Amino acid sequence: MHLTRKAIQERVKEIDVVIELLDARLPGSSANPMLAELTRGRPALKVLNKQDLADPARTALWLDHYNAEPGVRALALDASITSPAKALVQACHALAPNRGGMAKPMRVLICGIPNVGKSTLINTLKGKRAAKTGDEAGVTKLEQRITIAPDFYLYDTPGVLWPRIIVTQSGYNLAASGAVGRNAFNDEEVALELLDYLRQHYASALEARYRLSAVADQTDTDLLEAIGRQRGALQGGGKVNLTKAAEIVIHDFRSAALGRITLETPEQFAGWLQAGQARDAERQLKKDAFETARLIRLKKIPRPARPRHADEGGDAPSD
Ligand code: G4P
Repeated sequence: MHLTRKAIQERVKEIDVVIELLDARLPGSSANPMLAELTRGRPALKVLNKQDLADPARTALWLDHYNAEPGVRALALDASITSPAKALVQACHALAPNRGGMAKPMRVLICGIPNVGKSTLINTLKGKRAAKTGDEAGVTKLEQRITIAPDFYLYDTPGVLWPRIIVTQSGYNLAASGAVGRNAFNDEEVALELLDYLRQHYASALEARYRLSAVADQTDTDLLEAIGRQRGALQGGGKVNLTKAAEIVIHDFRSAALGRITLETPEQFAGWLQAGQARDAERQLKKDAFETARLIRLKKIPRPARPRHADEGGDAPSD
């Protein structure tokens, strides 16, 4: 992780455009704030990948959202687009119009969280299956340079740069998409969160897939049970096997058997982010206070002077 950070920091010095690959089903949650910090000030191309799985109306909202940001362009792609190079090259030239030609070739860095489809896209751009896909996410170890045109170089970031997840919902959305492993999250919890969102925003998709009615009025647990029963995920005594039911729901979301779904809009994500940042700042304050108290206890820093009250005479005692 540290090496990846260093590699990006080094590479960014000679980069004209940064391509950030996002998952079109969860653009906000699949973005990496740490990357934004490392590449600050560089023109950015947001590529909403896996658009074939995402809700097209919401993809349009996200594209508008990013295209309204200064120095940012956005486009949507999926693996069925066999020659994505043209769109990528055009967008990069629009972002860095002074680059191009053999004397000033365009230098582009491509980044993305694991499983977002980076290897697949790079393979398509290369026109051959040189980098492996579908393996343990983020297999690329060495930085590689891909020549897309004689004056257009794409640099692949090595390793994985995982952001600290401060938005609770992002953790669940990343788990639902398969970007974070099963060890990090419990399937049942992920499925319940997913159902909570789907019953509010994609009720008809749930009703059609599982032949249920009025799902919006049900609790998440009742809904998971109903789905398990409907799909025959039963255990001894006719009870629903909730783990199996959860796996079914997650699988149906990932494979788009539920239809094309996007788990966040720009507006929803902005709200979650604000709440997450407020919680994080509060946590940091508590941590700092705890650390200060520890250092005072160990006499590594002096105890702060007691504030003087108006009715107190003389100086406040000092340590
Ligand atoms: P990474 O390098 O960013 O870690 O991702 P990678 O390309 O390995 O892709 C992760 C998974 O996402 C792969 O599926 C890949 O086929 C799939 N994928 C990539 N781009 C798209 C897309 O635009 N649409 C859809 N629907 N899927 C996409 P997998 O099941 O892990 O592997 P495989 O069985 O396809 O080889």
